[in-house]
Amino acid sequence: MKTALVTGAAKGIGYETARQLAKRGFRVFLTARDRQAGEAAAARLAGLAGPVEFVHLDVADAAGVGHAAAEIAHRTDALDVLVNNAGIILDGDDAIATVALPVVRKTLETNTLGPLAVAQAFLPLLQASRHPRVINVSSGGGQLSEGMGTWSPAYCLSKTALNAVTALLAAALPGIAVNAVCPGWVRTDMGGEGAPRSVEEGADTIVWLATKASPEQTGFFWRDRQVIPW
Ligand SMILES: NC(=O)c1ccc[n+]([C@@H]2O[C@H](COP(=O)([O-])OP(=O)(O)OC[C@H]3O[C@@H](n4cnc5c(N)ncnc54)[C@H](OP(=O)(O)O)[C@@H]3O)[C@@H](O)[C@H]2O)c1
Repeated sequence: MKTALVTGAAKGIGYETARQLAKRGFRVFLTARDRQAGEAAAARLAGLAGPVEFVHLDVADAAGVGHAAAEIAHRTDALDVLVNNAGIILDGDDAIATVALPVVRKTLETNTLGPLAVAQAFLPLLQASRHPRVINVSSGGGQLSEGMGTWSPAYCLSKTALNAVTALLAAALPGIAVNAVCPGWVRTDMGGEGAPRSVEEGADTIVWLATKASPEQTGFFWRDRQVIPW
């Protein structure tokens, strides 16, 4: 049975990704920083083709990331798929000229350093898989080539840096398929009710990269199963 870990998976795109992977028979480690919400989410996903197990993981807590990796290493010999999904947009992330640096720092800690720390901590388990895959959930807001806008500058900066983390990991780890995904604008707590995409649509390319994409495809940025410019 293949194994997958999804961060920030108690709701939104992460929850839907965990659901779709369990439906396809993956053993899923559903992780969240809120224990109660994570346990409830895992319980709701019981009875699918693959088991869903809650593990506490706050991606911005370096010690906690290490503890989660140790706990999962007790439960499995290998990790086939890591989905770095957890992400935040903080209040006050409104304008690059005035945004408070603590807001920028906290956003980078969660959205950029979090995925890097998780990838580092789970590297031994990933390297024990035959075809390991790391999928970083990024955003078109981090795209440099399309021209930067003005909304949520700390968030956009964190996703540009996450894209760089993706490319650097892909270059350094040729045995692992490491890719970034923009899910599009999705109806979640982050995306809001007016977003055009469902969570099913938002999770589609993530799940495709986790299951069907060629393991040779690494170091790319994807949307709708197509490579897009950084
Ligand atoms: N929705 C969109 O339109 C859209 C567009 C482009 C990219 N994305 C990206 O898609 C990903 C998922 O977003 P979403 O729309 O599903 O948002 P969401 O519904 O707000 O979910 C975000 C998840 O991340 C978790 N999280 C935040 N900080 C965390 C931490 N330090 N440790 C662990 N988990 C943490 C949240 O947990 P709590 O509930 O505890 O806060 C929540 O479960 C994010 O990376 C986001 O940037 C979303």
